[in-house]
Order: sequence, then C-alpha cells, then structure tokens
Amino acid sequence: DPTASLYQRMGGEETIRKIVESFYPRVQQDPLLAPLFPKDIEPVMEKQRQFLTQFFGGPALYSRVHGHPRLRARHLPFPITPKRAEAWLRCMSEALDEAGIKGELRDEMWSRLYFTAAHMVNQPGKEG
Ligand code: HEM
Repeated sequence: DPTASLYQRMGGEETIRKIVESFYPRVQQDPLLAPLFPKDIEPVMEKQRQFLTQFFGGPALYSRVHGHPRLRARHLPFPITPKRAEAWLRCMSEALDEAGIKGELRDEMWSRLYFTAAHMVNQPGKEG
C-alpha cells in the first residue's frame, strides 16, 4: 500500500529494532564514533528505537517520554565533524542493508537520514 506510512512499509517495530541492534555495535567499533558514546549503550539504543519510530512516521514514542527531540541542540555537547557524520551514515547504511531494506523504501529512508546527519554537523571546519 503506497499510501501507508514509511514506518508501516518498512515493517514497523520489528524493523526498527533490527536497524538499531545492527547500528550500535558498528558505532562502538568505529574509531571516530566510539569515543563519543557511553560504554553502556542500551539506554542510547532505547532512545533511538523511540526516536526512529516517530522519525519514520510511527507513534511518537520518543516525544512522549523525552519531549521535543531538539535533535541538533541535544548533539551540541558532542563535536560532530563532517567525517563523523560520514561515519555515522556508513554505520547506518550497513544496518539498513543488514535489515534487508532495499529499493525505493531504502532511498526514502536514506534521504531523511542523510539530511538529518548533515544537519547534526556542528564542527564543520574540523578534521577528524
Ligand atoms: C544521541 C552522536 C547523528 C539521533 C547521540 C549521542 C551522541 C550522538 C554522542 C549521545 C549519546 C549519549 O551519551 O546519550 C551522533 C553523531 C552523529 C549523529 C556523531 C553524526 C551525524 C544522529 C542522527 C540521528 C540521531 C542523524 C537521527 C536520525 C539521536 C538520538 C539521540 C542521539 C535520538 C538520543 C538523544 C537523547 O539524549 O534523548 N548521538 N549522532 N543522531 N542521537 Fe545522534
């Protein structure tokens, strides 16, 4: 059904869970990203499950608990360089592949993720 939300078309809760469970181990292995994240990654995974659910048009799980995402502001404490955004997107791309997401659906998801990652860059001139 092409009129269904992106969230429904991608397979809802189960797919979000697959993506998040594939994404964070990659982040933790990445030399540019790992140092920014806490060792205990489970609370971050839970927030990302909630956030991506609403980001892709599902129920507003994140906002119900945490309020307005203010995503750029919440990322300001972390130095996000273009290289780190690239690394984040690489981990996400691999996670989408592992979750078996293909074709137009993947393109739609990717454009939103790509745009949002670019928006998180707060150290545009810095190397590394
Ligand atoms: C939180 C890094 C992009 C969604 C965080 C945290 C870091 C981080 C270090 C804090 C973890 C913690 O200690 O709690 C990055 C980097 C990015 C990036 C380096 C590269 C561009 C994104 C994008 C999204 C996103 C594109 C959404 C599509 C979130 C969410 C949280 C979060 C929902 C939890 C916010 C909260 O505390 O409530 N990110 N992030 N991030 N990130 Fe990102």
